[in-house]
Amino acid sequence: MLIETLGSARDLGRAQEIAAVFVRHGLGDLVRRLGLADALEKAGHALRIEHAADLARIEPPVQLRRALEELGPTFVKLGQILAGRADLFGPDWIAEFNRLHSRVPAVPMEALRPQLREDLGGEPEDVFARFDTEPLAAASIAQVHRAQLKDGTEVVVKVRRPGIQDVIAADLRLLERLAASVEQDWPALRPYRPRALVREFARSLRRELDLAAECRHAERIAANLAALDDVVIPRVHWQHTGERVNVQDFVQGVPGEDLERIRREGFDAPLLARRGARAVLKMIVEDGFFHADPHPGNVFYLPGNRIAIIDFGMVGQLSRRRREELLALLLGLVEKRPQAVADVLIDWAGDHHHGTDLGALEDEIEAFVDQYHGTPLAQLHLGQMLADVTTILREHKLALPGDLALLIKAFISLEGMGRALDPGFHMATEAQPLLRAAVRARYQPQALAARGWEALREGAGTLAQLPHDLSRLVRKARHGRVQVAVELADLRRAGDQIDRAASRLALALVTAALIVGSSIVMTVGGGPTLLGLPAFGLLGFVGAVFGGVVLARSVWRGKHHQNDDE
Ligand SMILES: Nc1ncnc2c1ncn2[C@@H]1O[C@H](COP(=O)(O)OP(=O)(O)O)[C@@H](O)[C@H]1O
Ligand SMILES: [Mg+2]
Repeated sequence: MLIETLGSARDLGRAQEIAAVFVRHGLGDLVRRLGLADALEKAGHALRIEHAADLARIEPPVQLRRALEELGPTFVKLGQILAGRADLFGPDWIAEFNRLHSRVPAVPMEALRPQLREDLGGEPEDVFARFDTEPLAAASIAQVHRAQLKDGTEVVVKVRRPGIQDVIAADLRLLERLAASVEQDWPALRPYRPRALVREFARSLRRELDLAAECRHAERIAANLAALDDVVIPRVHWQHTGERVNVQDFVQGVPGEDLERIRREGFDAPLLARRGARAVLKMIVEDGFFHADPHPGNVFYLPGNRIAIIDFGMVGQLSRRRREELLALLLGLVEKRPQAVADVLIDWAGDHHHGTDLGALEDEIEAFVDQYHGTPLAQLHLGQMLADVTTILREHKLALPGDLALLIKAFISLEGMGRALDPGFHMATEAQPLLRAAVRARYQPQALAARGWEALREGAGTLAQLPHDLSRLVRKARHGRVQVAVELADLRRAGDQIDRAASRLALALVTAALIVGSSIVMTVGGGPTLLGLPAFGLLGFVGAVFGGVVLARSVWRGKHHQNDDE
């Protein structure tokens, strides 16, 4: 299959280059097993695969890392994403993936100028009051120059490397084909969903290529974090921003990597760690739209212990359902409830657990969580626990859904950053109140009690969720471990509120019936009259008015009650 697609593809040249790099780094076997060697040979591009003796001594993870580095941005990014997949790779591979760095030599100004001129609508020196031709930083996708706007604002101009899009597009096409052929020819790898993995990765990388999208992400996150006044996100200057270049405020702060200066300039490092963690946790659990790369290179510290966050090229997104599952998982870890953790993980493994012994998996997860029994919150390493839990998945040949890989990566890098600032930093301690609040907000039954129609609509929502919840319940029942935790206080409150809602609904129904009934009686005529109107009809209306007043009062009181609660 790979043979035909490659033969007809325009990407043959690049395929050969990739194969050659792999071979050069001692990964000829891999090239052969992927069918790449055959495909190229059929297309008339023979590969010489020979074993250099000195290469045999290098560990395969190191060989792969070097090959990825040489292959450029697509493969470096792929490796960086795979670093978050403890569910797919062992620790020696993950360690090498983490070693991939994306700093590369800068594109010289002459090579950059034509594209920049086109995008800015003039020479950079004319568009800006000042433009530094020497870049501040150069990475695989873009490089960053300092400049000053005509109004005096200090900015940075991020420019996409010319021609990078074509290379990445070709690489992604090849990777997609490779994944498809792997999925077809290697049934053993199917549970790891290589095609889905590459699809997810391609989407994220294509998004990262669009420098305007990066600014849209920045603004969205800035809006979500507006209430946190100790977090700063640079302003975007849209008049100069497009797909290949963006302009944002220059952040004049202490770089996150410069721990020495942070200490010297009297920053409150533990406070910084706490504030950073709170911001990222809020993005993840509350907003479901988060910075996927919160490492020290993307952070600056400002006077007043404020934190500036930059670089929104890679963002993660979590659906509401995922967020709720994640909440359950994290709370399960923090509060050491193994069953909760197992439930979520088995859900995540989805329909791909054929042949997996779920009972054994649950036992192992329980044992894992139980080993932390009695460990104080402050000693739980949440990021590491998440990674360990995914390792358990790997050992059972289960894969995580792709959208969670970014999340776990973000978590681990956040915890690392916090701990570098403050050895006493504990993610679990920071996370618990936030997680609790999020769960509480979710189960607040206020909406149910106060407003009749809204309750009905919400009811419909619950109903839609019911099949999912039921299937979970049934699955648990099958394993013979349905666990029921009853919290009486909450139950009584919820019960009261439902009770109140039901009485109101009944009252509303009776009132409505009275109005309708009375109207009919009014039109029939005959019988006793009062003030010239049929007496029973009139009585009915009086009753309806009374019912209406009682209803209105009860709703109004209910509202006040709630406000007092808050
Ligand atoms: N707004 C900014 N203010 C100050 N420095 C910045 C700003 N944006 C980027 N930089 C510098 O450029 C580097 C690379 O920019 P970044 O947006 O992180 O791109 P990349 O995706 O390549 O990491 C940063 O690590 C930082 O040193
Ligand atoms: Mg960066």
